[in-house]
Amino acid sequence: MDNSSALMRFLHVLPPEFAHKLTLTALRCGIGPAQNADADLSLSLFGKKARNPLGLSGGADKAAEALEGWARMGFGLVEAGTVTLKPRTGNAAPRCWRFSEQSSIVNWLGMPSGGVGPFIANLRAFQDKPERNQLILGASLASPDGKPEELTRLAEECSPLVDYLTLNISNPNVVYRSDANSSPETITADQIKACKSGAGSKPVLLKLGPTKDPAILRKRVETALAAGAAGFVATNTLSCADRGLVEGLSIEWPQQDGKPVGGYSGPHLLSLSCWMVQEIRVLVGENVPIIGVGGVQSGGDALRLLEAGANAIQVYTGLIYKGPVLIREILSALKTYNNLQRPCLTAKAHGLHKTM
Ligand SMILES: Cc1cc2nc3c(=O)[nH]c(=O)nc-3n(C[C@H](O)[C@H](O)[C@H](O)COP(=O)(O)O)c2cc1C
Repeated sequence: MDNSSALMRFLHVLPPEFAHKLTLTALRCGIGPAQNADADLSLSLFGKKARNPLGLSGGADKAAEALEGWARMGFGLVEAGTVTLKPRTGNAAPRCWRFSEQSSIVNWLGMPSGGVGPFIANLRAFQDKPERNQLILGASLASPDGKPEELTRLAEECSPLVDYLTLNISNPNVVYRSDANSSPETITADQIKACKSGAGSKPVLLKLGPTKDPAILRKRVETALAAGAAGFVATNTLSCADRGLVEGLSIEWPQQDGKPVGGYSGPHLLSLSCWMVQEIRVLVGENVPIIGVGGVQSGGDALRLLEAGANAIQVYTGLIYKGPVLIREILSALKTYNNLQRPCLTAKAHGLHKTM
């Protein structure tokens, strides 16, 4: 057994949230594997150069506390957050479950957040570090209370310190409060506009939740673009109610008060995230950035999402199960793919070597 798999086995003996905290602490203290940048994989997104299209997805570093560590591990993109304006505790434990045989997670965290104060303090402290230039850095924002003014404040505070913002209104663990008289489209449009009004020149992306309905997806995408969204992240976790959207998922869904709770993440999401990215790419054309996320747990999975039309991909659950090995695996797959099929990539206008 190598050091990395011994470490993963140790972490998996611990309760999931504790293991996660320990990982963040280690990364903050400079403990963790280092991966050299590979110039061949560099891309330009949101007007900035990143060394590769592999990203860490929202939720893995909610307080932006280990950014140097993620850069050191080899990521080219990190989406910090989701952060809310005021601190929130989230749901009571237990609220995160591993399904190790399926390399999957169900989380019912309920968007815990330390609030924007510590978040931007961490972002600020990162600005002068050499690793800042290696990353495309995003901030994921939310207002579970559905208050547009909170989103504007969040965007104002974060935008000078990041390269893009993501609006997260697709977390299945949060009951987003909203005006009962407004349609979902109006709420989405209002929230995007609120983010944009505080974002200055920084692009605002919309993180979508799972769907396999082309008409619903089209409406969401068109609404978002009309409200000024600059791109999309697809997809967020899957609620129990939507489990029929994926094939072969056979977990015993966690319950609270007799009801299934939480959002699923893991390999069963991959076909869905690929489908969504492909559909969105057709709808928006080649110049709107799409970040693909959901179910990537190998180099081949990453290539599938890029082939579906993503400019960049993100991982979270795969990292929980495979650790830094996954990063190495994906980066080497990307390298092979690039070297072998560069013309195909550019011909398909997936954007890896294009400036958005
Ligand atoms: C424990 C956990 C917490 C998450 N928290 C967030 C979050 O705060 N914001 C967000 O946009 N997505 C969050 N996500 C969703 C991930 O960003 C991602 O969209 C999803 O897990 C699918 O990707 P994966 O299969 O690679 O994990 C969370 C996922 C997990 C497993």
